[in-house]
Amino acid sequence: MPQTVFPAETRSAFAAAYPARPVKFQHTLTGHPLLTIAALADLAGALPTSEIEYNPGDIPIGIAPEAVPKARLGVVETIRNIGQSGSWVALKRIEQVPAYRDLLHSVLGELRDLVEARTGKMETLEGFIFVTSPGSVTPFHFDPEHNILLQVMGDKTMTVFPVEDEALLGAQAHELFHLGKHHRNLPWNDEFAAKGQPIQIGPGEAIHVPVKAPHWVKNGAHPSVSLSVTWRSEWSYAEADARAFNNVLRRIGLHPASPGAFPAQNRAKALAWRALRRLRVAA
Ligand SMILES: [Fe+2]
Repeated sequence: MPQTVFPAETRSAFAAAYPARPVKFQHTLTGHPLLTIAALADLAGALPTSEIEYNPGDIPIGIAPEAVPKARLGVVETIRNIGQSGSWVALKRIEQVPAYRDLLHSVLGELRDLVEARTGKMETLEGFIFVTSPGSVTPFHFDPEHNILLQVMGDKTMTVFPVEDEALLGAQAHELFHLGKHHRNLPWNDEFAAKGQPIQIGPGEAIHVPVKAPHWVKNGAHPSVSLSVTWRSEWSYAEADARAFNNVLRRIGLHPASPGAFPAQNRAKALAWRALRRLRVAA
């Protein structure tokens, strides 16, 4: 199959790093007609409002409640004025709109063979688009998905931290997150800064962000558009379930070892958690 989004050298760079290490590589989506400001304003109008998160930065300090822009109109205008409005917009699960579903699937389809050889079936494909004004910051956090962030317009710096360093993201935070009891944002400590790897990307560049690697993002001096293509895998689900099972062990007074880093598969604890979950559902 011809590779249209990721050149051959990019596939090699990704293959060498996946799934454990961050890596910067190239893509060819810059200028794609579905990723222009005008197209993204239309996308915001088409997605359910529940899938749009935004901060309309151009609202005055004092405003009557009835004058606050209605969510949909507000976000469309916010995107159109993103250069001036001091705002950010996240368009979530863009695969709900067929043209964007096709785009997401064709981008990830080019890496499917490499992914599945390492981490098993590629599942739960989801796409997100971030439209951000100059200078905005996304705070320190982590995500449960395998992720590639493709920069389409403007530039940003993502500082990525090692996932295996439990001084940054402790075992209990992992466990509570997978039980739905820990927010994805993480407490920051200035002593962490030296452990981060800043990776700057501009149009045509992308970053592979390993599952749950903590990161924070600073936008450059121009409006920015980034496409995030994400997936889950057999391996990532097993790691998540092993973490949840560890929490059970911890609650009965044990001190379980953290799941092993890739290529450890963590199958025994994952199966134990799945059995327990079935019992709880049946009870
Ligand atoms: Fe993130």
